[in-house]
This record gives sequence, C-alpha cells and structure tokens, in this order.
Amino acid sequence: MSKSKKSPTVKPATLERGEARYFHGRVKILDNFKELLGRAKAGNSGTSVLIQAAPGAGKTALLHECARLARAQRWQTAKINPDGLFDPAELSKSLRLPLPAKRQETKMGGNVKVLHQESTSEHHPPTTLDILKSGRKPLLLLLDEAQTTAAVIPRSNHEQFTNALKFVKTIHNGEVERPVILIAAGLGATAAAFDSLGISRFDPECRINLEPLSEGARQAVIQDWLLEEGGAKGDPASWINAIVRETHGWPQHIMAYVWPALKQLELTDGELTPEGLKTVLKEGQKGRIRFYEARTRGIPEEQLHCIARVIAGVPSDTSVAKIDLMASLRLDHDRDTAEKIFTLALHKGILDERKNRYVVPIPSMHDWLVDNFARIPEPLFPPPEPQH
Ligand SMILES: Nc1ncnc2c1ncn2[C@@H]1O[C@H](COP(=O)(O)OP(=O)(O)O)[C@@H](O)[C@H]1O
Ligand SMILES: [Mg+2]
Repeated sequence: MSKSKKSPTVKPATLERGEARYFHGRVKILDNFKELLGRAKAGNSGTSVLIQAAPGAGKTALLHECARLARAQRWQTAKINPDGLFDPAELSKSLRLPLPAKRQETKMGGNVKVLHQESTSEHHPPTTLDILKSGRKPLLLLLDEAQTTAAVIPRSNHEQFTNALKFVKTIHNGEVERPVILIAAGLGATAAAFDSLGISRFDPECRINLEPLSEGARQAVIQDWLLEEGGAKGDPASWINAIVRETHGWPQHIMAYVWPALKQLELTDGELTPEGLKTVLKEGQKGRIRFYEARTRGIPEEQLHCIARVIAGVPSDTSVAKIDLMASLRLDHDRDTAEKIFTLALHKGILDERKNRYVVPIPSMHDWLVDNFARIPEPLFPPPEPQH
C-alpha cells in the first residue's frame, strides 16, 4: 500500500474523486511505469503514456501515484492543462517558470494591432517546445481530463495547432533531448483526441485501459479505511465482504460506501455493528445511483433510451465490437446520428473501451440503465379501446 502524506485526522472534502489516501492495486502498471522512468533517464529520452477509462476508475489517483514514483527518482513533475500544449504562458505557469516574453499589443481605433514582438530567440517568442527544451532535469507532465484536448486546441489558429502538434509529437518520439514523459489520462474519447494530433501508436505498456480493481486490492482499500481511518475494533471481514460484493471493484463505488462507513464507525466508537452495516449498504447504494445519474446528465432523453435499448441486448460485463453497436443504433438512426450517440456514450463514461471492444464498465450501471431507460415509455394518453 502507499499512503499519502496527509494527516489521517483531516477528512478530505470529497472521498469519491482524486488522490487516494490508501492506494492499492495497479501493480503491473506501476512496475512498467517505474521501468519506463529508468529507461527514459538512461536514454535521455521519453515518450507519452495514455490512460483511458470511464469516470471513477481511478485515473486521477493513478496519476498521483505515478507522480509520487517519479519524484522519488528525482524527476520534476507538473500538472498541465491542454492549453499548456500550445500556450507558452500556460506551460510556464505549470512548470513554475517566469512568464516568457509576450507579443506587445496596443489598441488603435478599436482594432488590436501587433506592434512588435519581444524576442528571446531571434525574432520569435519561445514556443512551448522551446520552453521544454530549455530545461535539463527529467520531467513528468500530467495531463488529466485529456479527452478535452481536441476541443481545446484551436484548429482555426494554424500557429497554435502546429505548436501543439510539435510539442506532443516530440515528446511522444522521445526527441526533447531531455527525459520527458507525458501521461494523458481521460475518458474513452482520449485516444481519438490524440489521434487527431497525429499520435495513434503507443507502446503496449504505454496505452493503459483501467479495469476494476483486483479482488485483493478492493479488500485492502476497504480494510485500510475501516481500520486506519475509522478506528474499527475487531475483525472487519464481514463489512469488507459485504461492501466488496456491492462495488464490482469500481474505485468510485468503493469510496461511496467508505464515507457512510466512517460516519457509522464514528457513531459507534469503532464498533462494527450489523445495524451499522445495513445503513452503510443503504447509503452506499444511494451514492452509486448518484454516480449513474451524473453519467446520464445532459444526454437528450431520446438518445438515452436508444443507448439503453442497445445495451439491453448485451449481457452485463460483456464487451461488443463497435460494428455491432453501430448496427443496433442504425436501426433507428442515420449513420451520422448513430456515430454521435456512440461518441456521446463514450464521452459520458456509459461505454468504456477494452481492447478495441466496448462495455458498460460496471455491471450494476448496466442494470440500472436497462431498468430505467430501456423500456419503451407507456403513452401518457393511451388511445381509447375500440368500441364494439
Ligand atoms: N487504486 C486505488 N486504490 C485506492 N483508492 C483508489 C484507487 N483508485 C482510485 N481510488 C479512489 O477512487 C475514487 C475515484 O478515483 P479517481 O481517480 O477520482 O477516478 P477518475 O479520475 O478515473 O474519475 C477516488 O476517491 C480515488 O481516491
Ligand atoms: Mg479524474
């Protein structure tokens, strides 16, 4: 287990998102990453790593773990936003460097006119790639919510678009002349966003799809929270097993049960009572449903029904090829609309990619979607019975 440094007495504002206080599992991924850090340093190079998964799978928590490993090996680490790929000021801020010289602008008669450019190299202000090349220390860049990258990089601004492209490609190909690794973590649409920047091929261990936590890791996470944080007295096995059964190894779900568990333990001064467990299971289930509702928010109702009907035709926890999903969507929609609905489901985390196939990432989310949206709604005003 790795434990973050925060004091265990301070409760975080939210338990369902972000850095894990008791991180477990993802062992192979972290071993591979450690090796990558070593290779990049030895070879004075680097590459980019893609972590793709639905919301709540543990992308942000994993980024924090990677950063911790890198810092332990004396790497500099920096969180960046998609703008930092093309905007020198944004990147400088993330790297805690002084702001680069800027274009000097003045307003003349309402028009913005570029007067001159202050230059640090010849006549051009530095690009993001220049900034990256100006350092020597091994650097790990962490780009979270990376599915937004394609929307943020302005295609209409040729210069910015080219700068973003050069920045990402140079890192991806290990050509910064400095050890640099970029980890991009995001929802199922992240690979497509990088594809649009010309990055489609990752080394196998650098293209990661996060799946549910292993059995051992799920138990270890719950045990740590109950014992270390909740001060549970006695054997927590019955609580752990009951929570594990409800959460399908989905980190967000685990945390949705941990919070009410901590509250119960506070009330009973650490006693693990059967009534307490009942309350925990009830509250945790509400947390799970809140999470599913958040996934469907903003999807037009008709499209949501359509997605749910397609999902209803696939057993839960079973992945299908895109071509089969599209064939079902095409029964009611033209190709463009079907493609839009598919992308929306990926963006919202209703679908998750697993080795080029697609699955509703949590079995209980599959069932909830089918129960709530797959039925054809009864008409509000049914036609009158025919009179004889
Ligand atoms: N491997 C793990 N061990 C323990 N807790 C985890 C792990 N992965 C995620 N979590 C916790 O689960 C919750 C959801 O994880 P998060 O990283 O926010 O998911 P995502 O970024 O994919 O939406 C957070 O509270 C996080 O701390
Ligand atoms: Mg996150």
